[in-house]
Amino acid sequence: MENQPKERIKTGIEGLDQMLRGGVPKGHVFTVMGAFGTGKTTFSLQYIWEGLQKGESGIFISLEEDKDAMIETGLSYGWDFQEYLDQGKLAVEKLRPEDAEATIKRIKSDLPRFIKDFGAERIALDSISLMNMMMDTPQQKRDQLFALSEMIKETGATALLTAEVKDDNPESSRDGLIEYTADGVILLRYNQNESGEVQLSIQVKKMRRIEHSRKIKSFDITDSGIEVHMEGAVF
Ligand SMILES: Nc1ncnc2c1ncn2[C@@H]1O[C@H](COP(=O)(O)OP(=O)(O)OP(=O)(O)O)[C@@H](O)[C@H]1O
Ligand SMILES: [Mg+2]
Repeated sequence: MENQPKERIKTGIEGLDQMLRGGVPKGHVFTVMGAFGTGKTTFSLQYIWEGLQKGESGIFISLEEDKDAMIETGLSYGWDFQEYLDQGKLAVEKLRPEDAEATIKRIKSDLPRFIKDFGAERIALDSISLMNMMMDTPQQKRDQLFALSEMIKETGATALLTAEVKDDNPESSRDGLIEYTADGVILLRYNQNESGEVQLSIQVKKMRRIEHSRKIKSFDITDSGIEVHMEGAVF
């Protein structure tokens, strides 16, 4: 497929990279959407970890966990982020949702400069839903989202933004916006059948400019992160 963007960024989730025929196109801003506990933070860390293993630098922007918690979560999956922090290959930015004014200022001015200066190839922001909660009006949310996407695109980094879904519709983000503005949407779902069995599933809903699988595959969160099962059907 000659006209498809050549350079791909592997998510580090093997089955998913197969579904994406090699990975996410470089420079995309994509979202990983799902309900609580479906693995969004795990995905973000796995994505950053994959880059670090390949010598790429990364920035993890968190509205939930601070640096110590992030390191601890990483260690639970066997990913030692500390050494990369020490080497200056990884930066962790904790944004404080409770201090909207300071956080908005940082997103608008300090953060773009920091991302450019740091030269990050991968960015993970966990979560865009918490960031959006700081905005008062739908217009502000929209403006903020566009500004953030534009800012990231200018840096050339490939960015993952996690998003929470609506309580009554696990296929739509809380604000119903990011799935339209993002270049790609990966949906994580929690499924339960009549016998009470539970299964997590993953699907590429959208990935601009590439051909990809639309199949729904089941996955587990294990001691080494997200593992997609390529065989078998999802109930
Ligand atoms: N070290 C581990 N080994 C295996 N499974 C784990 C491990 N750590 C967490 N999990 C599983 O992953 C789930 C949490 O995943 P994660 O925090 O990535 O979800 P999330 O979508 O970010 O949730 P939230 O919306 O609450 O932030 C836990 O509820 C647990 O089931
Ligand atoms: Mg999380």
